[in-house]
Amino acid sequence: MYLTQLRLVNVRNHRRTELEPAPGVNIFVGANAQGKSTVLEAVELAATGRSHRAAQEAELITLGESWARVHARSRRADRDQDVDLAFRQDASAPLVDRTWREIRVNGVPVRRGELFGHVLCVTAGPDDPEVARGRAAFRRRLVDVLLAQISPAYYYVAARYARAVAQRNRLLRGKTMAAADFDPWDDQVAALGATVTLRRRDLVARLAAAAGQIYRELSGGREELVVTYAANLPGAEEADLIRAAREAMAAQRQAERARGVTLVGPHRDEITLEVDRRLLRLYGSRGQQMAAVLALRLAERQVLQEETGEEPVLLLDDVVMTLDESRQARLLAFARGAQALVTVTTLAALATLPPDAVVFRVAGGAVEAQRAHLA
Ligand SMILES: Nc1ncnc2c1ncn2[C@@H]1O[C@H](COP(=O)(O)OP(=O)(O)O)[C@@H](O)[C@H]1O
Ligand SMILES: [Mg+2]
Repeated sequence: MYLTQLRLVNVRNHRRTELEPAPGVNIFVGANAQGKSTVLEAVELAATGRSHRAAQEAELITLGESWARVHARSRRADRDQDVDLAFRQDASAPLVDRTWREIRVNGVPVRRGELFGHVLCVTAGPDDPEVARGRAAFRRRLVDVLLAQISPAYYYVAARYARAVAQRNRLLRGKTMAAADFDPWDDQVAALGATVTLRRRDLVARLAAAAGQIYRELSGGREELVVTYAANLPGAEEADLIRAAREAMAAQRQAERARGVTLVGPHRDEITLEVDRRLLRLYGSRGQQMAAVLALRLAERQVLQEETGEEPVLLLDDVVMTLDESRQARLLAFARGAQALVTVTTLAALATLPPDAVVFRVAGGAVEAQRAHLA
């Protein structure tokens, strides 16, 4: 699939931006803080309903305004699809996040879970240092967003699991000690958690195979990237995982009550990245870390394409600039066949401009299209 139209109204510094991306490479050029990343953020919103960089949706709305809109038209198999998002905030209570979000697909209001799968995207760049070096939550998020894009059913399972854990945590902080009060929540956490673990583990195995190969090519065949899903509960099958979760919860109830949180389950799982058998997070150089996460992003694209039969849009935010000439060339070769939205601060940062690339200048929240000029 690829985007044919994108419209941002009152989104951060974009008062009204309309653009028609080309099916291939689209390059957004502009100085810092002009609004390049915001264009890519709008695509992420259309794909997932959320932005990774807005803790609260109110942040997306242009200061002083009470609403924002994003519209994305995409094409797949000669069929056009429209996704519309509207965010409103209650201006009378600006200090509380009272943002109200409305999502429509082809004009029909839908819940967030039903938005997934219409616009597919892979975002590389802004979050990548955290994926390489940060808390496990960043790596779990990568896997969860990918699974939701492949199958909206996963989004609902993961959301139910998160609610069950939250409920159980409330109980752990309460007065009751009775096993009977915990039983139903332990059951839910164990059962939903087993599904989440199995889905993630399958996906990570596929990502690992693809990322390993891509990393070898990006690094010129010299290094090996190994990606592993490290579950904190043992068990290969669903029944084993459920049993292990029930046993662990029973055994650790005291520690869990002391801390007021559920200590076992996929909400605490890790996805380990190793280069040449060393933990990337601790021992990798910056260059290795960025290359490994980029390989993971390109692997996301490959898995999404295989699972859905559609190419996702690649959002490469300030990624290309960090690569040397030969890696840039390899990255752009990998990107071939997919629509890519690429940000750079100057065209000089690009070793070569792909011949079919379209260039957009971004300044002060305004976007102006210009054809690539091949000098
Ligand atoms: N809610 C908001 N209202 C108005 N301006 C905003 C809001 N949020 C962010 N901005 C501004 O919008 C711009 C966002 O730029 P960004 O897309 O991150 O730029 P770039 O990627 O080109 O560096 C910044 O200048 C920032 O200060
Ligand atoms: Mg930016």
